[in-house]
Amino acid sequence: MWFPYLLLAIAYLLGSFPTGYLVGRMAGIDIRELGSGSTGATNVWRNVGKLAGITVFVTDFAKGAIAIYMMQSANYLQALLASTFGYTQTTITNNLSLFVIGAGMLALIGHSRPVWLGFKGGKSVATGVGILCMLNWIAAIAAFSIWLATMAIWRTVSISSIAAAAAAPVLMWTLQGDIIYSSFVTVGCIFIIWLHRSNIERILNGTEFSFKTESKP
Ligand code: G3P
Repeated sequence: MWFPYLLLAIAYLLGSFPTGYLVGRMAGIDIRELGSGSTGATNVWRNVGKLAGITVFVTDFAKGAIAIYMMQSANYLQALLASTFGYTQTTITNNLSLFVIGAGMLALIGHSRPVWLGFKGGKSVATGVGILCMLNWIAAIAAFSIWLATMAIWRTVSISSIAAAAAAPVLMWTLQGDIIYSSFVTVGCIFIIWLHRSNIERILNGTEFSFKTESKP
């Protein structure tokens, strides 16, 4: 029964892979010292460029999606390992969904609190979208539509991320209603909004970075 715990550790390590930091380093900068200081796709887009930002988004999205997919496939992966190394496996049955949400939460925490960067990373939005896609892709598309609509109005990524994170739990409870996954999305989104507290402060005092006013990198 150790196998799902190994996958939980891998989910954290996956989430903590410092994509934004490495892309920044390749461009000769320390992304943590520029803009919002976040290692996320938005800050990379802002300080390195569009292609770099998209690369970080896609990779960080994949970290969340893979963490969930890996745990959803835990029984298969374990059977593969057991047959390769010839040991007896215990099938994970009842509590697999708890391990799945555990993997999701650890990927989110890994992204924002990476052990490699002194626990200072991004805001887990792209990783969160990857997770939501794997749990309920219709909810993910609906949340992304809200992100796009608010972006068209305010052109401020943090406002759109907070709006989408506020909407995602409502969408999950409405479209899926499963208590385990919907509760996890609720907790995960509260965590993501909490990670935006410096953005909220800037939004309130009118100093938040906005694509309305920023010059293109
Ligand atoms: O996805 C993160 C975004 O919502 C805010 O990023 O760099 O403006 O704090 P940033």
